[in-house]
Amino acid sequence: MPMIVWSNQFSVGVQEVDKQHQVLVGILNRLGTALNGQVSGVDNRQVIDELVQYTVYHFGTEERLMREISYAGIVRHVHEHQAFVKQVSQMVTQLDHGQGPSLVELLLFLRDWLVSHILHSDRDMGDALNLAGIR
Ligand SMILES: [Fe+2]
Repeated sequence: MPMIVWSNQFSVGVQEVDKQHQVLVGILNRLGTALNGQVSGVDNRQVIDELVQYTVYHFGTEERLMREISYAGIVRHVHEHQAFVKQVSQMVTQLDHGQGPSLVELLLFLRDWLVSHILHSDRDMGDALNLAGIR
């Protein structure tokens, strides 16, 4: 069962950002399906690395767009990104050492953070980008 079903409620009104969010959701769902045992032979650790790498790339895109319009909320938004990357790296390191969260816990954390971040911070950013004519 997919963990996140993409719908228009996740759209922030900016094509480039929406596309990247869809890729992130796709990677998350791939991991979710593997953990549900519906697909075997998936290297979960590799998918997590892929997810982290794509997330960092995606944050870079958002931060470039925010700079382009001198977005008032950029400092707070970038701080959220940095705190997330830091927390996820710590969780992955703990996971690698057999401590801390399970893979499922990590996945749920990633899912919940992503959904809440898209629906609040990214949507506010999308509104500002739209006002500046970026769609
Ligand atoms: Fe963001």
